[in-house]
Amino acid sequence: MLDKKTYQNAIEKREKMKANVATDPFLLDLHVYPETGWLNDPNGLCYFAGLYHFYFQYSPLDAKRGDIIWGHVSSPDFISYKRQDPFIFADSPLDKDGAYSGSAFIKDGKINFFYTGNVKHEGYFDYITAGRDHNTIKIISDAYSYDEKILVMDHDDYPSDMTRHIRDPKIYEKDGAYYMFLGARSLSDKGMVLIFKSQDLKKFTYHMRVETPYDFGYMWECPDYFDLDGQGILICCPQGLESEEYTYQNIYQAGYFPLDLDLENKTYKLGDFVELDYGFDFYAPQTFEDPEGRRILIGWMGMPDAAYTNPTDHDWQHAFTIPRVLSFVNGKVYQKPIGEYQKLRESEISLEKGTSYQGKVFEAVAENIRGDFSINIRKDVTLSYENGILILDMGDSSYGRKTRMIKISKIEKLEIFSDKSSLEIFINDGEKVMTTRVYSEKYAFSTNDFDFKIHPLNPITFE
Ligand code: FRU
Repeated sequence: MLDKKTYQNAIEKREKMKANVATDPFLLDLHVYPETGWLNDPNGLCYFAGLYHFYFQYSPLDAKRGDIIWGHVSSPDFISYKRQDPFIFADSPLDKDGAYSGSAFIKDGKINFFYTGNVKHEGYFDYITAGRDHNTIKIISDAYSYDEKILVMDHDDYPSDMTRHIRDPKIYEKDGAYYMFLGARSLSDKGMVLIFKSQDLKKFTYHMRVETPYDFGYMWECPDYFDLDGQGILICCPQGLESEEYTYQNIYQAGYFPLDLDLENKTYKLGDFVELDYGFDFYAPQTFEDPEGRRILIGWMGMPDAAYTNPTDHDWQHAFTIPRVLSFVNGKVYQKPIGEYQKLRESEISLEKGTSYQGKVFEAVAENIRGDFSINIRKDVTLSYENGILILDMGDSSYGRKTRMIKISKIEKLEIFSDKSSLEIFINDGEKVMTTRVYSEKYAFSTNDFDFKIHPLNPITFE
């Protein structure tokens, strides 16, 4: 339980935490991070009344993740941000143990938010098949406030072969009807997406489910369904997949299925799952469409339940990824860093092969790459390509993160965003992406194999 009063009364604590955050040499310049405390999934992403609104899973008083509420930042341009008051507190019997993830849907000049109210019962339970409620809750809002939390569905409304883990609603509109996609874990430990239908965004009834005909994890979190350049795309985060050499290297996955979905006839054709990111720190992405019709994705630059940690004694933890614009080309989702970030560029430096750049916050671009290569990104971080395998290799300063690999037959272009404690590597104009946190004290970027263009970047700003 974290209500508004408790948050407001903790002003002294928060001021102390803020002062500690400001002294962190690893504080990020290019990423949305929490003012204090912990951040996980991006939530409720939308453009409304002239501003982008970004909400997120937020534990403002505890950087090790305490009670979860919704934080909020707004921005006109992805560059200058305003920190807003937390939006949804965990303050009602419907969500007392966490205002969990959800999304925004704009209709008739209002934002309809749907999210999961997490409730844990006192007693001895496994909290999987018993002892937990995941309530689907609706809020009607102007982005900043709301009158009431409306219970839309509870466990009795979900199919009877499900566990208590049903969460993270996202709305898709088609032919005048509204479909809610929810992540689910069945009683036979099968991950899937449940789809509920509504004519009015008030009453939802179970419609159908999307699952694999083969084993594919015990739980799918954070579903998102949308049309992208003529293809239906289902994003979700499966848990419980076995690691393979070049795929599923993290504890949990975040990726997409191409999905041809016939909602009217309740039939579908599911393509193969593809990971959206091959680094250590990418999870729970959410997308939205902006007024220009761009499909924009923001991920959580973190990974739940991962074994590694980081040097965090500065009262903040985790951040968003740089926003990415999606497209579907030749059967694949491409992800490009949002164009607005080019406005952060200061100048252009030509980094000739064999020379080194010592900056911390920059974008490095190499085009017309041919053949194998090796790049030193930090003193003990290398990115090398040999025999069709790209390897990110990190040393001690990565606090337990070691190697991540991508099998890829050709690399022609690299675009690397370096922040004080993160790397986002876009390969072949976003055919593949690798995102990771890294905590090196020595910044030195160099390669003997080709020239780079370096753009030192100004920080995004917070008011
Ligand atoms: C994903 C997730 C969601 C859940 C939220 C709770 O990281 O586990 O499924 O709603 O985080 O913070």
